[in-house]
Amino acid sequence: MKSDSDLSELKNSIREQWDANQNYDSGHAHGVNSETEKELWGNGISELLGRSPDLKILDIGTGTGFLALLLGGMGYDITAVDWSMTMMEKAKEKASAAQIPIKFEVQDVENLTFSDDSFDAIVSRHVLWTLTDPSRASKEWVRVLRPGGMVIADIPRQGSDSGKHHYGEEIGKKLPFGNGADPERVMGIFKEAGLGNINLKLLEKQGEDHRKTLLIYGEKI
Ligand SMILES: C[S@@+](CC[C@H](N)C(=O)[O-])C[C@H]1O[C@@H](n2cnc3c(N)ncnc32)[C@H](O)[C@@H]1O
Repeated sequence: MKSDSDLSELKNSIREQWDANQNYDSGHAHGVNSETEKELWGNGISELLGRSPDLKILDIGTGTGFLALLLGGMGYDITAVDWSMTMMEKAKEKASAAQIPIKFEVQDVENLTFSDDSFDAIVSRHVLWTLTDPSRASKEWVRVLRPGGMVIADIPRQGSDSGKHHYGEEIGKKLPFGNGADPERVMGIFKEAGLGNINLKLLEKQGEDHRKTLLIYGEKI
C-alpha cells in the first residue's frame, strides 16, 4: 500500500504534467474537435439522463471542457472540476466565447469539497485511467450525488498503455487503470462505492472518424 507522502508525490507529478500541457485539444486521439465524438457522447448521455435542463451535472476532470461545453450547450446546469489551471483556463475561454454558463472549480476529484447529495448526475470522460485511486474517487463521486442520481464514465481501453504513454513507465505502472481496465473490475468498484443498476453501454459510429467508447453507468442506491 502506498503511504500518504508517496501518493501526494505521485499526484503532484501527474498534475504538473497536465499543467504543462498546452496542446491537448490538437491531439487527434483526444477527440475534442470530433463531431462524431460529440454526437456519440451527447446522445449517449441524454438517452441515459433525459433532457431536463434542471439537471445539475458535475463534470469530473473536465480538462479543456469537452463534456462541460457539450452538455452546457444542450442546456444542462453544469459544474466542472479539474485540478489543472492550464487545462481549465482553456475550457473557460471556450465557454466564454460560446456564451455557455458553466461553474468551474479547481478541485481534486478524489477529494471533492461539495456537500453530500449535491448533484443529479456525475459525468467523466477520459479520466478513470489517470486516477491514482479510482476506488476512493468513485466513493467521493457517489457521496456528492443525490440518491437515485447517476454516474456515467468511460471504461479505459485494455492494453491502451495510456499511463506509460502520457507519464512514462515509472508513473504509468503505479496507476491502477493506466493500462486500461476490465469492465467487471470497474463495475465492482462502482458497486462498492454505493451504486446499483450498474450497466455498460457501447457508443459506436463507423465511418471515416470511427469511434468507439464503452460507457459504464449506475445509480446511487
Ligand atoms: C485526459 S484529460 C480528460 C479531459 C476531459 N475530460 C476530456 O474529455 O477531454 C484528464 C484530465 O483529468 C484531470 N485530472 C486527473 N486527475 C485528477 C484529479 N485527481 N483531480 C482533478 N483533475 C484530475 C487532468 O488534469 C486532465 O485535465
